[in-house]
Amino acid sequence: MAMERTYLMVKPDAVQRGLMGEIVSRLERKGLKPVAMKFTTIPREICENHYGEHKGKPFYPGLIDYITCGPVLAMVWEGDNAISVCRQMMGKTNPQEAAPGTIRGDYAVDMGRNMIHGSDSPESAAREISIFFSPEELMDYGRSIDAWVYE
Ligand code: RTP
Ligand code: MG
Repeated sequence: MAMERTYLMVKPDAVQRGLMGEIVSRLERKGLKPVAMKFTTIPREICENHYGEHKGKPFYPGLIDYITCGPVLAMVWEGDNAISVCRQMMGKTNPQEAAPGTIRGDYAVDMGRNMIHGSDSPESAAREISIFFSPEELMDYGRSIDAWVYE
């Protein structure tokens, strides 16, 4: 097994639309384990650091405005191959191409209002987790149900 932690973020549109619980619920039902959660409005400079790879792209200013316009639910989730498992659950970046059954496929229609962020590699996950959480905010705990989630 490849136990991984990934940084996920319910974006401001999903918070405004009352879909935080739906998203958390999907992740829980999948069997993933929550490690940290924080309801917060991201300062602009932190958002610019988080999305630094996109600086200079045409959509970058709109992206920073969008992500900083209201509270987000910043989260860390853990599981076997959690990074790719969560990217699959999110669906493609463009919600119009995201498969039904994915979060973006079920709830969104616009690239600039696509509900959720998820780390795209182990390196991004480590970087993003450290931007939003200190080590003591990451909960280390066991769950008895994990014997029924993993063989
Ligand atoms: P995210 O980082 O938010 O999880 O999304 P992603 O990996 O699926 O997509 P990424 O390429 O990293 O883009 C980050 C966010 O920027 C917005 N975007 N707009 N108009 C455009 O062409 C465009 N491309 C990207 C989206 O909100 C995307 O989630
Ligand atoms: Mg990305």
